[in-house]
Amino acid sequence: MSDLIEGFLGKSIDGKKSRLPAKLDYIQSATGLFLGLFMWGHMFFVSTILISKDAMLAVTRFFEGSMFLKEPQPVIVSFVVAFVFIIFIVHAGLGMRKFPINFRQFQVYKTHMKMMKHSDTTLWFVQAITGFIMFFLGSAHLYMMMTKASEIGPYASSDRMWSDFMWPFYLILLLAVEFHGSIGLYRLCVKWGWFEGKNSKETRAKLVKVKWAITAFFLALGILTLAAYMKIGYEHRNHVGERYMGAIEYNIAIDRKVEA
Ligand code: HEM
Repeated sequence: MSDLIEGFLGKSIDGKKSRLPAKLDYIQSATGLFLGLFMWGHMFFVSTILISKDAMLAVTRFFEGSMFLKEPQPVIVSFVVAFVFIIFIVHAGLGMRKFPINFRQFQVYKTHMKMMKHSDTTLWFVQAITGFIMFFLGSAHLYMMMTKASEIGPYASSDRMWSDFMWPFYLILLLAVEFHGSIGLYRLCVKWGWFEGKNSKETRAKLVKVKWAITAFFLALGILTLAAYMKIGYEHRNHVGERYMGAIEYNIAIDRKVEA
């Protein structure tokens, strides 16, 4: 009954407003922070291909439990991806609440943005658009990584980029992620007052500079990484499906031969 009254009036029987919107805002911030920091780690792991194929293979095998298990188990990666996917869905679902839901709302927002000419209001718009793009591309990437965790590696990933023609997909996803992530982390700092010094205007100006530096750094790293996968994929185009044999694979193959 009390739910019904609150549903009609927007207030509970004792005249209080629901705390749910504030709780949802908090969850959105927490999941956003997790995903933003996760992406920094992700970009460093994926970019190990710039060091060498063996370096990327070592990272892949590490996530497959090579430290504790005799043979790599990609299913561990599937579970990790499933966990990240759940956080991603929760974050996207909560983000949707803020989207304009009809043309009128969109018109009001656009006019507001033009009149204010305030960079943070414009940033929100960029975040909404990049978030919308990631809805589709991020979900497809995560589903692929979850169900095909055994197809991650120096050659498998490069074949996907070049021979499966996934590089345009990753290029768009990369642009969306890097803008969305750094704007998101900047907005979190402003919203919750992190790193706020005595002069909030000065802090905000500094944060904007750091935000741009982070975007430029990860975009440059991401584009170089993408180019490296494309180059390897191109050189490997006549051997699609063949896996890269690192020292670990080589030893497993030798062990099997000896056992046989
Ligand atoms: C645990 C979860 C994840 C895993 C295991 C993973 C794994 C990978 C791998 C192996 C690649 C190299 C390309 C390939 O093999 O297809 C890659 C690239 C990429 N991933 Fe993820 N990923 C995860 C989550 C995410 C999320 C949540 C996003 C953003 C929504 C994302 C965005 C990207 C982008 C933009 C690239 C291209 C990077 C570049 O070329 O510089 N990934 N990921």
